[in-house]
Amino acid sequence: MLESSISKCEKNPWTRARRWFCFLMLFLILGTLVLIFYSSSQVLLPLRTSSRSSQSYDNVTASSGSISPDYFVAYPHQYHFILDEPKRCREESPFLVVMIPVAPDNREARDAIRNTWGKETKVLGQVVSHYFLLGRSKEPLKEQVLQESQEHHDVLQSDFLDSYNNLTIKTMVMFEWLSSHCPNSAYGMKVDADVFLNVRNLIDMLVTAPRRLYMTGRVTKGARVLRDPNSKWFLPVSAFPESRYPPYAMGLGYVFSLDLPEKILEASAHVKALYIEDVYVGLCMRHLGVTLTDPPRWGLFKASVSYFISSCYWTSVITAILPNSDQLLHVWRSYQIHAHTDC
Ligand SMILES: *[C@@H]1O[C@H](CO)[C@@H](O)[C@H](O)[C@H]1NC(C)=O
Ligand SMILES: *[C@@H]1O[C@H](CO)[C@@H](O)[C@H](O)[C@H]1NC(C)=O
Repeated sequence: MLESSISKCEKNPWTRARRWFCFLMLFLILGTLVLIFYSSSQVLLPLRTSSRSSQSYDNVTASSGSISPDYFVAYPHQYHFILDEPKRCREESPFLVVMIPVAPDNREARDAIRNTWGKETKVLGQVVSHYFLLGRSKEPLKEQVLQESQEHHDVLQSDFLDSYNNLTIKTMVMFEWLSSHCPNSAYGMKVDADVFLNVRNLIDMLVTAPRRLYMTGRVTKGARVLRDPNSKWFLPVSAFPESRYPPYAMGLGYVFSLDLPEKILEASAHVKALYIEDVYVGLCMRHLGVTLTDPPRWGLFKASVSYFISSCYWTSVITAILPNSDQLLHVWRSYQIHAHTDC
């Protein structure tokens, strides 16, 4: 009886219409839910596979096997600046100087930073300035880079050959420049060009941080030396006999009080210049007997971006590495929207 009434019902065109209506509503509700979820997470980024400092040199790994790589770089050595801002830092006396190593031909990355977090020159009452750090390029880019430097006054170019395996030289040249050009500044930071930097959170942390012998970032302790010849940061026992690295701050972004550059340079005369930039700074810090400081909160310095992130993600970090610097404008917009909400 019931069955027959159902089957009768099913044939009823009104019931069929109602059922379609129900399906439609369900579909709309689900669609709306998906949309809300996507817009609240704002940016969906793939996990970055490598988390160490990158400068978009894809082709220079030490893993090719056929060529025997050099594990050490030519430092200390007298390098010279071909493009410089000799007086700017002294005159502006910023509280924080942000240094961004970048390949000479990567103008896009520099512009992305200039148009996003690089615009933040006064934060919580503190002056912040940034400089891009370049080596010499193989290609003749001289005119373009010169023009860019005259336009923005934020380019520093030294005369060593710019390459991934020379990043240690770049870092040491950065310390040289900071120790001789910024006598009135409190902190320096090294940050990679593919990193989102939350300047506000950074300054907020620094205003209460020690002014001396201070370095923090994503501090890694007890990292194993990679002995697999196929790995990107392979080191044979002959080059580096210890099995673990000393504590070091990962190259994506670390910050330090400006009494340290001079001390690190002194140490570098006694520590052989390993090509792995962040590890080398860690080795110099150990030589000095200066302990790295953990950040006040875990997760402030992110080495990657998770696939799904909450809307408050960008307002809660100090650094987050992006898959590439094109993402920066997108992330910046998202950050700006949420910076004014109660994240
Ligand atoms: C990578 O390196 C090889 C050998 O040095 C070179 O022939 C090749 O052109 C390079 N590829 C790119 C994309 O630079
Ligand atoms: C590093 O820079 C030095 C000085 O310019 C240069 O002689 C050397 O070839 C460079 N090394 C690499 C791996 O690019």
